[in-house]
Amino acid sequence: MNYPKTPIANTPSSLFSRFAKEIAINSNEPILDAACGYGRNAIYLSSFGVDVICLDNNEDALSYIKSYYPKALTRTEGLGNISTLKIDLVDDPWPYREESIGAIINVYFFLPKLFEQFLVSLKIGGYIFIESIDGHGGNYIELPPQGFVKGKLSRAFEILYFKEKKVGPPSSDASTIKLFAKKTMSYDVV
Ligand SMILES: C[S@@+](CC[C@H](N)C(=O)[O-])C[C@H]1O[C@@H](n2cnc3c(N)ncnc32)[C@H](O)[C@@H]1O
Repeated sequence: MNYPKTPIANTPSSLFSRFAKEIAINSNEPILDAACGYGRNAIYLSSFGVDVICLDNNEDALSYIKSYYPKALTRTEGLGNISTLKIDLVDDPWPYREESIGAIINVYFFLPKLFEQFLVSLKIGGYIFIESIDGHGGNYIELPPQGFVKGKLSRAFEILYFKEKKVGPPSSDASTIKLFAKKTMSYDVV
């Protein structure tokens, strides 16, 4: 996929902005923005004083975050620090062990396999925010089947916000997902 060389917008996802403060106040670090792009959501979250690690495989996007948000601007301004990790979220192994992460944001890049790794690596009490891509055109091919996400969450998460919408042709059961949830007990892959 061709990804733009500069951000199209710096404003965070409007749904994410509703939950960012709650995540910042209640989460232990580290906090991850997985597939961060140019960091609009991570930067917004850091404005509440928490550190965020931005994960992406796009060097241009990660360089932009580093230049946009130099360390000198952080602590003294009451902002959290932003660090970056270049990683291929499809092919590289997920680098975080179980119950080691305070919160995970994942906007417009949903992968079922990664989703399950998120659930395992969150600490108990940790938050997950997910907003999938929308259902336009052929997007449905990349989206999870209806019920998939809620089914995984039901065992170990308190769901604080959930919207699932069927998209694609009638023959498909793909759905878009908007989710905010809190881990309440250990999650084992079955
Ligand atoms: C649509 S953008 C969303 C960016 C950001 N979450 C936001 O809301 O602005 C999708 C992001 O996924 C990243 N991405 C795509 N494939 C990836 C991969 N295999 N590993 C890591 N990041 C990937 C792209 O570089 C891009 O930054």
